[in-house]
Amino acid sequence: MDFIHVHRPPAEPGGPILLLLHGTGGNEHALLPLAEMLLPGAGVLSPRGQVLERGMPRFFRRLAEGVFDIEDLKQRTADLADFIVSATAQYGFSTTDVTAVGFSNGANIAAALLLLRPDALGGAVLFRAMVPLVPDTLPNLPAVPVLLSNGRTDPLVSEEETEHLAALLRSAGADVTVSWQNAGHELTDRDVVTAREWLAQHLSR
Ligand code: MLT
Repeated sequence: MDFIHVHRPPAEPGGPILLLLHGTGGNEHALLPLAEMLLPGAGVLSPRGQVLERGMPRFFRRLAEGVFDIEDLKQRTADLADFIVSATAQYGFSTTDVTAVGFSNGANIAAALLLLRPDALGGAVLFRAMVPLVPDTLPNLPAVPVLLSNGRTDPLVSEEETEHLAALLRSAGADVTVSWQNAGHELTDRDVVTAREWLAQHLSR
């Protein structure tokens, strides 16, 4: 358990767990208010990214904005997946109970988890995600629910990139919903409402 993290059990035993993955410069506390808005009573597992970029925590190294250090990304994705699996044993839940909620850099590592270590997650809400990497072989994501919520005027993530990520995940079998916001890279109220409704629909199945 070598990630600094916050853990809160779900209100109901066996209830959903939100894996909160912050953006660059965030920490394990950054998305706690968002989790409360998205799914009150859900359990929370919220790690802090282990890379520092000029003092700002991130989940993996980048060479420039949007240009990733792929070897580092692969290693850190494996580390995060191992952390999730060890948390299931320590706190008594299952990886299928875990829905990642990631913003920006956190959404990118959540997408990398889906592509490289699908055993670690039951689903994902990705705010402003890019294609983190294209794996050598596609994972098997049978009907794994994924929400991509991106901004139409995001200077960091183009519409093509969002569609590329959706296509990659769909070709692996995931059940992908793409939601477009009239927004840039920042999170808006519409993102929150969209994700809340999507979670209510997909976690009550
Ligand atoms: C990343 O580095 O993951 C993306 O550029 C998003 C960001 O963190 O700004």
